[in-house]
Amino acid sequence: MGERFRKTSGVDLKEIIADLNKAYCDEWLAFYAYSYAAQAVSGSAYEDMQEFLEKIAKDELEHQSEVADMIIKLGGKPTVNFNDIEKNANAPFPMPPKKTDDYEGIIEFVLAAEGGAIEVYRKIAKKTLGKEDVVYQLAAHILGEEVQHEEMFENLK
Ligand SMILES: [Fe+2]
Ligand SMILES: [Fe+2]
Repeated sequence: MGERFRKTSGVDLKEIIADLNKAYCDEWLAFYAYSYAAQAVSGSAYEDMQEFLEKIAKDELEHQSEVADMIIKLGGKPTVNFNDIEKNANAPFPMPPKKTDDYEGIIEFVLAAEGGAIEVYRKIAKKTLGKEDVVYQLAAHILGEEVQHEEMFENLK
């Protein structure tokens, strides 16, 4: 990203990079948890649940990559050591339910994680609105997809 753009943006870029790095770590945790849950799910409706979980896992992996790209463009560095991912995230690892055919538990675990993600991107969007357009656009785009994820799983209730 251009020097001039960076200098004229109305936000503390260090703070934005730190916010994005936390979101980056959240995305890895969500991707892992959803992928795991998709692989482990059992019971009578497992194929449908698997499909939904795979779909959102794929989106979180994309978010991870979009956020990493933005951190690098802003001159930062995403968390490199996988051991630090949970420590640097906004929230602890979203644990899938123990029982692999507990669909209600799966829905609740997804909704809790998505609720957290919505809050995270809403905050970044609010902070950057009218001040740092490129980051704002990314936050708003990801926020829209997290809201879709929430709706998708709310509709399974
Ligand atoms: Fe995400
Ligand atoms: Fe999501």
